[in-house]
Amino acid sequence: MANASTKTYFATSIHEIGIVDPVKEADLMDELKAGVFMLSEEDEAGIAWCESQGYLGYTSYASLNDLPMRIPAFAELEKRLVKAANAHARALGFEMGSHKLSMDSYWVNLLDPGAGHSGHIHPNSILSGTFYLDLPEGASAIRFEDPRLPFMMNSPPLRSDVADDEKRFIYFQPEIGQALFWESWLRHEVMVNMADDPRLSISFNLS
Ligand SMILES: [Fe+2]
Repeated sequence: MANASTKTYFATSIHEIGIVDPVKEADLMDELKAGVFMLSEEDEAGIAWCESQGYLGYTSYASLNDLPMRIPAFAELEKRLVKAANAHARALGFEMGSHKLSMDSYWVNLLDPGAGHSGHIHPNSILSGTFYLDLPEGASAIRFEDPRLPFMMNSPPLRSDVADDEKRFIYFQPEIGQALFWESWLRHEVMVNMADDPRLSISFNLS
């Protein structure tokens, strides 16, 4: 009888970690939420950008690059996210020398009911991620796509019972207070928000 083995290589990681305890640190969560709502009412450049782009809700992505200076809770969250990102970079085996990852962009997302965010990558950075601030019932999942998908012109579809690490798409339904980290080249999409209220998150790029 011939020996046979199959191993998996070229794995793609998505790292999930609790950053803020939503019960024990409710004050911090409330400050972050209040910050998002304040920005969504006062950031005129961001509001105008969202209108021009057909973004349903509000994001500070194109208008503000100083959230930690504006709101102390954002500075505290940034510190925790950078620490978690560097630990994840070590776990991935990145040879970084004395370089430590730092935020090069950090922005809020208030996604209205009925809104989504189509597939994209985050260029010019190493790790990206999102922290989840409010996910009302029915709030959309984030969907990650197998990075080999463009090569699969002749591949058969997969059975529905394949293991998660074989799937072409992974839907993550995160929890409030958690962050997800992934390598910035990994394509992802936020599905349509089916909740009656906005879905609140804070996204970031590190390099
Ligand atoms: Fe994204």
